Amino acid sequence: MVDFSVNAKGMRSSEIRHLMKLAANPSIISFAGGMPGNELFPVDVLDELYNGLSRNAKQVALQYGPTPGYPPLLDSLKSYLQSRGLPFEKQGLIITTGAQQAINLMTKVLIDPGDLIVTEYPSFIGAVAAFKSYGANLTSIELDSDGIDIDKLEKTIDGRASQIKMLYLSPHFHNPAGIIYSEERKRALIKLLSGRPFCLLEDDPYGELYFDEADKPLTVPIKACAGESLPVCYVGTFAKIFGPGLRLGWLLAPQPVIEKCELAKQSMDACSPTFTQVLAHEYLSRGKLAPYVAWVRPIYARRAKLMLDALGETMPDGVSWTTPKGGFYVWVTLPPTIDSTEVLSRSMAEGAAFVIGSAFDPHGVRNNTFRLAFSYTPEEKIEKGIAIIADAIKALM
Ligand SMILES: Cc1ncc(COP(=O)(O)O)c(C=O)c1O
Repeated sequence: MVDFSVNAKGMRSSEIRHLMKLAANPSIISFAGGMPGNELFPVDVLDELYNGLSRNAKQVALQYGPTPGYPPLLDSLKSYLQSRGLPFEKQGLIITTGAQQAINLMTKVLIDPGDLIVTEYPSFIGAVAAFKSYGANLTSIELDSDGIDIDKLEKTIDGRASQIKMLYLSPHFHNPAGIIYSEERKRALIKLLSGRPFCLLEDDPYGELYFDEADKPLTVPIKACAGESLPVCYVGTFAKIFGPGLRLGWLLAPQPVIEKCELAKQSMDACSPTFTQVLAHEYLSRGKLAPYVAWVRPIYARRAKLMLDALGETMPDGVSWTTPKGGFYVWVTLPPTIDSTEVLSRSMAEGAAFVIGSAFDPHGVRNNTFRLAFSYTPEEKIEKGIAIIADAIKALM
């Protein structure tokens, strides 16, 4: 037998990957995958952008590119990020192969085995997997409807300050919690963290996907609010605002961090796909992003409303859920005695899928919770799918 490395021996299959396979069965109503429905991708725009490329641009698209990214995309992305208030002084920008790679690079350049990373509870499964793959210790702090619990965070920081290397947060339309940080919570966080020796990794894939224009001010990144007192490393992605199949994300961080990430990326994939970077540059520079998100926001808002209405009509007493103002997710909490794995197996037998809560617990334990994604499911299937899940819960209560 092959003798795997300690690192590989610790790797476990992600529950999400497993469920994505099941959810691909067309007879299942799936609320499992955190992705746009295929029908929501801007396919006509893609055709137009590709067909508009010169022969030379198509040749460039098929070539290797510089490790930090295709230079025109770095420029157009910079303008876009500046329009969202993000600072560029003393900062560097690198294009990554999805936001997932940005998180992975950050972990690789900052974390030694045994270092402590503070996350939210619940937290994004892909980040937790990356942290664990580099031997990090994790501690998680509960979210409420306004963001991370500041008192608990302060106690953790005061108690374990010397061990903490990184704090990982996703403040906008959280995956899986569905919540958005209030402005007050962001201010309290910046005040608490200012001058501390560890880094804040801010992960923001969903900030553009608010349902109501009035909530747009809530989506100003922490990095944009923080100023120089807090060295925030900011991650974003084209996955939810163009398509995850592009495999393009970015990291905006202090220049020394970007220089190390560039070195680390050279031995991972040398560069992110030039082909999709050329298209992403056209998408931004020809002003296609704003009309696309303007078109897709009300579609997600309608799907969320249908889901929330169905939850209100079908769920028994004792079950609660978050009310998202944007993004893709609703987080459901069951009475403490109910295990969401049992709910899932009953629901799957009747034709509806979701992701169990323990997948989002950095310690893989708490499981009286689950995540529903409304982004992928056609409107006409949402009510029926929720009714199936509600029946499964009632049968277990
Ligand atoms: C919070 C969060 N971060 C990062 C990612 C990864 O994004 P990408 O597909 O760009 O790697 C996701 C994808 O679901 C996510 O929800």
